[in-house]
Amino acid sequence: MQELHTILKEALASLSAIESPALLEECKAKYLGKTGLLTEHLKALGKLSPEERPLRGAEINQVKVAIEEALRMQREKISQLELDRQLAAEALDVTLPGRGHGVGGLHPVTLTIRRIRDLFSAMGFEVAEGPEIETDYYNFTALNIPENHPARAMHDTFYLDANHVLRTHTSPMQVRYMEKRQPPYQVIVPGRVYRCDSDMTHTPMFHQVEGLWVSESVTFSSLKTTLIEFMRRFFEQEELKARFRPSFFPFTEPSAEMDVGCVMCHGEGCRVCSHTGWLEVLGCGMVHPNVLAPLGIDTERYVGFAFGLGVERLAMLRYGVNDLRVFFENDLKFLTQFN
Ligand code: FA5
Ligand code: MG
Repeated sequence: MQELHTILKEALASLSAIESPALLEECKAKYLGKTGLLTEHLKALGKLSPEERPLRGAEINQVKVAIEEALRMQREKISQLELDRQLAAEALDVTLPGRGHGVGGLHPVTLTIRRIRDLFSAMGFEVAEGPEIETDYYNFTALNIPENHPARAMHDTFYLDANHVLRTHTSPMQVRYMEKRQPPYQVIVPGRVYRCDSDMTHTPMFHQVEGLWVSESVTFSSLKTTLIEFMRRFFEQEELKARFRPSFFPFTEPSAEMDVGCVMCHGEGCRVCSHTGWLEVLGCGMVHPNVLAPLGIDTERYVGFAFGLGVERLAMLRYGVNDLRVFFENDLKFLTQFN
């Protein structure tokens, strides 16, 4: 009797500490299995006298029932624990805010082209567009760029075949635009251009905006006032520093390049402006009679000026970006700043 009592106490104590189904089965086998402690006692019943046997049997059975009941309860407890664990692990907090959708934005180059277009529109310019694949004729010949001009060399130009190039500038659109219309003209042409060129301030593909103003009365000083006024509005700086350097383009005469003060170093000199304090933003000049005359335009009556500005240069200055290449690397960390 004393021994049975000890077995029950032990069994209940170890059962209540078990948390895994496998250990529970082991424990069950230890007491109730074929060679279990309790089973041994049952087997021993045969050795007892017929009077003692029923009494002893009933006692063993009581203990067996108690252990079975404890097993059943512990099994329930374990499955409840398992369920709780699973619920906690797979918990879904329906009160959390949703992940939402990222909102796209316009590329800084697109934003800059739109700004340029809006400012020139406000000054009376129309907007036109033209092909990126050009013939040798429009990209060079019609612009008074003779056969042996260095701009034709493979070094700068992506040739598609002997007669076709990726346009190296937007100037061919001057010709395409004028050959279909009668003067006066006042138009800008934004678009992609391509050159075999790559460093901090040059990329193989970039954007230009061409400008053309032909009338009976424009002068070189109209060119200067138009461009200075545009730059001041673009940068929202009444006193923006600008200068015109004499230059050469076969399709303008006289020709100039316009620089604005470097906004990275405020004119001190830095890597971006090659330590000059200035950044070249456009080329310009009075349209050469050799361009106008073949189009049937009376060069005694009409004069014009033209310019081609670098969109990325203006974007760099406006947004304080010091490396042109980041515009085309499509790094979201950079691009989302403009959303
Ligand atoms: C021209 O392309 C002339 N067609 C401009 C012109 C038009 C002159 C009409 C006269 C009349 P240029 O090669 O200098 O000129 O380029 C014009 C501008 O494009 C430069 O001032 C610069 O801002 C930009 N640019 C030139 N090369 C690159 C490049 N690889 N990457 C980024 N921007 C460039
Ligand atoms: Mg140049």
